Amino acid sequence: MNTPHLRLGVIGAGNVGSAFVQMLNDPARQIALVDAATATLEVVGVAVRDTSLLRDGIDRSLVVGDALALAQRPDVDILVELAGGVEPARTWVETALRRGASVVTANKTLMAACGTELARLADENGADLLYEASVAGGIPIIRALRTSLAGEKINRVLGIVNGTTNFILSQMTSEGRDYGEALKEAQALGYAEADPTADVEAFDAAAKVQILSSLAIGTSLRGDPISREGISAVRSVDVEFAGRAGYVIKLIGVVERVGDNGISRRTHPVLISVEHPLAAVHGAMNAVFIEGDKSGPLMWLGLGAGGQPTATAVMGDVLHAARNRVSGRHDVPFTVDDRLASVDAGDIASVFYLSSDVRDEPGVLAQVAGVFGRHSVSILSMEQSGFGQEARLSFLTHEAVGRDVASTMQELEQLSAVDSIGACIRVIDGGGA
Ligand SMILES: NC(=O)c1ccc[n+]([C@@H]2O[C@H](COP(=O)([O-])OP(=O)(O)OC[C@H]3O[C@@H](n4cnc5c(N)ncnc54)[C@H](OP(=O)(O)O)[C@@H]3O)[C@@H](O)[C@H]2O)c1
Repeated sequence: MNTPHLRLGVIGAGNVGSAFVQMLNDPARQIALVDAATATLEVVGVAVRDTSLLRDGIDRSLVVGDALALAQRPDVDILVELAGGVEPARTWVETALRRGASVVTANKTLMAACGTELARLADENGADLLYEASVAGGIPIIRALRTSLAGEKINRVLGIVNGTTNFILSQMTSEGRDYGEALKEAQALGYAEADPTADVEAFDAAAKVQILSSLAIGTSLRGDPISREGISAVRSVDVEFAGRAGYVIKLIGVVERVGDNGISRRTHPVLISVEHPLAAVHGAMNAVFIEGDKSGPLMWLGLGAGGQPTATAVMGDVLHAARNRVSGRHDVPFTVDDRLASVDAGDIASVFYLSSDVRDEPGVLAQVAGVFGRHSVSILSMEQSGFGQEARLSFLTHEAVGRDVASTMQELEQLSAVDSIGACIRVIDGGGA
């Protein structure tokens, strides 16, 4: 029997695209790839912006400048979109899906903005839309959620899904750097962009939270805004307090069931207990921690970025799409549960770490404690550090509702004895079964 032959069009030959094409053409992998794809695979075009550049490992005759024309080519069976952004990527992907070609993408921005619509379009046209590389790079979390955990009720997902911020916070923790120094170091090492906003203000993590939430719990992917707070306000004093209290600070993406039909999706810094498995995720590594109803805790750890790790996830999807095409099948789109309603982060209770700079004078503590009491926020422990102009109060609360904590901070700010309000960060303990 002849082995079927499938043609790939690749858009993008940057970090991920180049690594993917090189992996596909690696002579040492050919037998394994044909085995896994149940087909031979051929790249028939690679679209880039600048066609004059030589690309390592990519045959010059394959390089084209018109990505849309590649998506339209009737002989392209699988379009691999590795350029990024919403437009024109959305047009390319829709064009390929409409004519029944399958699409593999690493594009979290596109999936978070319109994944539900694109998945429906793929299904209507008997094609696959696969996006393993869009969350946590080389970690195969999407397939795990879609297959191994398809029958599990997932109660909570906690993810360290942005390597740049994890690197910065790790340097602040282990090397005692302040935020600015750690950011500069991340930029020098190529972990952070010259404009780091997407990472440090958690836009990147927010898109990944949306994708994880759609697969873990069944929310739609339509660009809904989710609660987002980055790490640029985290100070060395917060990191030091966390260390003394048995925590580390991490930027976490959270997807959490609340009651029967509520869902909270958010990304923000947390103080996480050193006992929690996520506390041991250092540097630019990513990890996803899942609390399943019957499975209990599960965790995946790995490289969340980088051309080669990300290309392995793209390759896994391409091989899956190839097998499906050969057998005339396609994956069903993820199910959207219309009963789910978003719960505001202000309504979610947790332990909080709060801090404020205060005047070191008699009566201040009583005033501050009074404010906590008026807003029903109960203090678990308090630490005073510094003297005179440098005095600072740090608190851990008992479990309290976000809205009450926010109003406590607002009233504290009005006190004449309070110079400035510092951190207001949620706390996560434990992590065991
Ligand atoms: N890098 C990672 O570690 C990583 C991890 C996970 C997911 N991803 C995702 O993977 C995708 C690619 O990331 P990357 O880091 O490889 O990006 P990149 O290095 O910036 O490469 C982007 C590629 O897309 C091409 N391109 C951009 N706009 C184009 C257009 N209008 N027409 C044709 N080609 C166009 C660029 O062409 P030129 O080379 O001519 O500029 C370049 O080759 C993104 O969606 C990203 O979010 C990346």
